Amino acid sequence: MMRIKKRRRRSGPWIESPMAASGGNVSTPVSANSNSRCGGFFKHPPLMLMLKSHRNYSSPAATATNIIRASTNSLLQVNEVKVQKLLACPICHDMLVWNGDPVFSVDSTPMSSLKCTTCKKAYSGNQTQTHLDLTLTNQYMPPSSELFRLPLVSFLYERGWRQAFSIWGGFPGPEKEFEMMKDYLKPAIGGSIIDASCASGLFSRLFAKTGLFSLVVALDFSESMLNQCYDFIKQDQNISQENLILVRADIARLPFASSSIDAVHAGAALHCWPSPSAGVAEISRILRPGGVFVATTYIVDGPYSFIPFLSPIRANIGQISGSHIYLSDRELKDLCSSCGLVDYTCVRNRRFVMISARKPN
Ligand SMILES: C[S@@+](CC[C@H](N)C(=O)[O-])C[C@H]1O[C@@H](n2cnc3c(N)ncnc32)[C@H](O)[C@@H]1O
Repeated sequence: MMRIKKRRRRSGPWIESPMAASGGNVSTPVSANSNSRCGGFFKHPPLMLMLKSHRNYSSPAATATNIIRASTNSLLQVNEVKVQKLLACPICHDMLVWNGDPVFSVDSTPMSSLKCTTCKKAYSGNQTQTHLDLTLTNQYMPPSSELFRLPLVSFLYERGWRQAFSIWGGFPGPEKEFEMMKDYLKPAIGGSIIDASCASGLFSRLFAKTGLFSLVVALDFSESMLNQCYDFIKQDQNISQENLILVRADIARLPFASSSIDAVHAGAALHCWPSPSAGVAEISRILRPGGVFVATTYIVDGPYSFIPFLSPIRANIGQISGSHIYLSDRELKDLCSSCGLVDYTCVRNRRFVMISARKPN
């Protein structure tokens, strides 16, 4: 079913990027925000805006009026530019410039069109999408990923599928898992969190409801999961539509600037990724120094370790399905440390495991 949503468009001050100044024609919005952790595309945006105003108006009175108007407008957009600086080209990790409405919320972000300043790759949003699509292509993934793109699976995910993890795997369930991870997430409070492979957004919604984070990104590769996530968000009156965005991306090609994100959560997802090491390496790249990674998955050990030929069986299952079965906690620790993360911890409940690690300061 096609979604057609009515959205209000807002306009804001726009300024030529350094690229445009040197002959290109790309423009991007500016703001007064100077506290962002990300590297600045504009070192002093308000000042640049004032200089632009000054070029356009010769009368001192008109110049003063425009300086005030521009500064007021740019102050109104503090949040928006912060998010913009977090998003980056999934190919070259360089800044994306926005052609259109630079407003960030559940409804406005999917309409944005973006272009990389370096590799020129463009990403077009439209009125009918529920999410911003920053995947490179619509390429076919292994079955462990493709399964979740089926609309029926997305529909069933929070209607019995996820609950089954508790029965066979010992997953405590979203609320308890959220309680368990709160301590790990403390250094990220007030910052940005990505719910990587969010599916229908069970944790993204919890993160948004707490108001603990300045930005929640619900990210998944599956369009149908993100559509379901959008529907659940719309049904819940307690979720703010601001500072929550839905992004479609591949975990191995994350569209965020390096060292820009405070925390990444990946619930029940590591074992579904085509390459867990490519995913965790990307997470390590985008986390800011001291940023936190929390994930849950399952470990097949204990009595299962006595199954003969378990390692070759696992390799064959992995090759066919694309999924990854962990046989010990050591493998998860190695995965984190090989991707540059430190201070690994793990909590077990039968086959369920919650791990955490952080990017070194
Ligand atoms: C079992 S669900 C986990 C959902 C949720 N986080 C939870 O805790 O229940 C696994 C999710 O991983 C996503 N996924 C699989 N491959 C992916 C990839 N390459 N990039 C991003 N997400 C992927 C699937 O679309 C699916 O929504």
